[in-house]
Amino acid sequence: MDKIRMGLIGCGNMMRQHLSGVDQVKAVEFTAVCDVVRENAERMSEVLGGTFVTTDWREMADKVDAVLVALPHDLHFECGLFFARHGKHVLMEKPLCNTEEECRRLIAVCKEEGVVLMCAYPVPHYPGVRKLYELVKSGEYGAVMQMSVWTEQLTRKDELHWLSTARIGGGQFFSHGCHYVDLLLRFLGTPVRGFHLGTNAGTPWMLREGTSAVVLQFESGALAYHGATWGARGTRLGWDIQVQTEKGMLEYSTTLDGARIFLYDQLANHRPGVEESSKRQVVWELSNDGGNAKFTHFEIDHFADCVLNGKKPVTDGETSLKSLQLIWKLYEAERTGIVPDLRGFAIPEADLANYSEYVASLDRR
Ligand SMILES: NC(=O)c1ccc[n+]([C@@H]2O[C@H](COP(=O)([O-])OP(=O)(O)OC[C@H]3O[C@@H](n4cnc5c(N)ncnc54)[C@H](O)[C@@H]3O)[C@@H](O)[C@H]2O)c1
Repeated sequence: MDKIRMGLIGCGNMMRQHLSGVDQVKAVEFTAVCDVVRENAERMSEVLGGTFVTTDWREMADKVDAVLVALPHDLHFECGLFFARHGKHVLMEKPLCNTEEECRRLIAVCKEEGVVLMCAYPVPHYPGVRKLYELVKSGEYGAVMQMSVWTEQLTRKDELHWLSTARIGGGQFFSHGCHYVDLLLRFLGTPVRGFHLGTNAGTPWMLREGTSAVVLQFESGALAYHGATWGARGTRLGWDIQVQTEKGMLEYSTTLDGARIFLYDQLANHRPGVEESSKRQVVWELSNDGGNAKFTHFEIDHFADCVLNGKKPVTDGETSLKSLQLIWKLYEAERTGIVPDLRGFAIPEADLANYSEYVASLDRR
């Protein structure tokens, strides 16, 4: 087999993003699509040149080797379990499932059935993030003292939309922050302690927080900040990661015209009146990346490679559970006011090595 037959389940916002890069996916043939709203599935099937269409995912089991699940969070577990039990590989949108019990059960069943389970965290696959990871890990810039990830979005939905309700399984931090907790664990290693504060001021449509502020300290001493809102009425940033190192600040920034990594290393020589652009150099750039959306094809290809070649996904079930466990711990700490010990939530060394090898292997191509 040199291609896997994949079914797409949940043809909404995220699946449309997956579809925008689907022409670049190499080892997958899309054979079936499902959405409870038939027209959503039909539209997607048309883009794919015609596939089996259904409103009930159980009807596609004999037409696929694997599924990509992009459903509301409270359906992840039920859907993933169904396909795992039918011997199908599962690429599950983030967050893996809504509770630790569901995650553990799904991981266990996938193991039992011998199928691949991967969480569709796209960020570790983005070319710019991989490059930033290599630069930071190369040691060329010295130790990291601080890493910040800022995201600003407006997700106002009608109040009955699942994204505003308890079906989300948490608030903005759980639903969106999981991307960046996973990323910080990859870049900075073992977390030691941390805190989260959330608010729904300005996002009254959210049942839980719509805006989050997170601080984490790592064993190396480095501090990480993650600030994010789903209530942004305006933004200067597209998407921004900053890493302060001993040699300067590396910034990965995306805007509508592309993605860049800058190095700012002349603060010591800063003179008033010097143009901002003259104080920074572009270390890496990729134009017209469409704001990252196109790059989900890397994660789909990686998933297919794992299925076809028996590899371990860089965001397998257990690895992606770490970020969720840390988030649940910080939610608990927010309630109790006790700063928790986070040492148990590090991504294991072997999995970090797996990620480094994956990054290097894409570079070699
Ligand atoms: N990776 C990312 O950056 C990213 C970004 C956005 C969303 N997501 C994730 O993608 C998933 C879906 O989010 P979304 O924004 O696309 O939501 P959405 O509401 O836009 O799409 C969900 C789709 O699922 C369909 N659906 C609902 N119940 C169904 C059922 N029982 N059977 C079949 N179809 C059903 C809906 O009709 C809808 O078309 C979530 O897990 C979300 O967290 C990931």
